[in-house]
Amino acid sequence: MTTTASGRPRIILDCDPGVDDAMAMIAAARWADLVAITTVAGNVPLKHTTANACRLRELLDLDVEVHAGADQPLIGLQGFARHVHGETGLGDVALPEPKRGPDSDRAVEFLVEATRAEEGLHLVPVGPLTNVALALRADPGLANRVASLTLMGGSAQGVGNVTAAAEFNVWADPEAADEVFRSGAPLTMLGLNLTHQVRMGQVHADECRALDTPVAEAMAGLLEFYAVFHLAAEEVADGPIHDPCAVLAVTHPDLFQMEDRPVHVELSGTQTRGMTLVDERGPQADTPTNCRVAYSVASGAVIDLIMQAVREA
Ligand code: RIB
Ligand code: CA
Repeated sequence: MTTTASGRPRIILDCDPGVDDAMAMIAAARWADLVAITTVAGNVPLKHTTANACRLRELLDLDVEVHAGADQPLIGLQGFARHVHGETGLGDVALPEPKRGPDSDRAVEFLVEATRAEEGLHLVPVGPLTNVALALRADPGLANRVASLTLMGGSAQGVGNVTAAAEFNVWADPEAADEVFRSGAPLTMLGLNLTHQVRMGQVHADECRALDTPVAEAMAGLLEFYAVFHLAAEEVADGPIHDPCAVLAVTHPDLFQMEDRPVHVELSGTQTRGMTLVDERGPQADTPTNCRVAYSVASGAVIDLIMQAVREA
């Protein structure tokens, strides 16, 4: 595993900002050595996810490249999550227009080149897996060069959010997810079964507002927007903080309990397309384990790390 002198794991964050993607950037800026950001269409169209990544890069005063990637799934119709993340992806948080735009529209090529230039990087996708699948098509050896491919997506125990069976990141591009899960890469899956255990809301937003800094103000707005949606959708005021879990599973792995499992992506089920089918029997003769699946987490410690990242940004 590649770490810097500070001992922080070096990560590339592939994301679709996105309210919780923004929180993942805040966490990565504090706890990881964030090498670069690649963007993909997902919660909102690519132009917005990319602009948001550039806005957040400036909010966090990060000197990292942002490379835009795929603007649609490998095949099939495209679906967004504007109802969750707002029309342009960051709720109603208005960040200044970025002075610096994306460094390229070649995220796929960047992922191949960056992992060739430096073995042992952690690739942390927290959006649809289109960029990652295309990079693996371009260079299957990427699977053997990364220290981990730690993704927020899917779910164990049949939990879905877009449908009864499918989680958004996998639902948005099931073919890409299938290629990633069959790639032989060192996969770790932080699915909904895990991320629903990490919930934040108005109490944390109030704590952020009291800090009176630009990052804390943005975090408060993101949390409040997210809480309104989840209160309406789930009648629970605290929202699940999905994407930071993938970052913190790399930087603080001891906070997560994982099991090795065979995981398959369903592509053709009329009710289950986009489902990550986790074989709880464990490895079988014809289906070896291909993924570490997260089942439980020290959620209080994870939330504390997220809040510390906000405080220290
Ligand atoms: O299902 C949750 C995932 O979908 C998160 O990554 C969120 O940002 C959305 O992309
Ligand atoms: Ca996301």
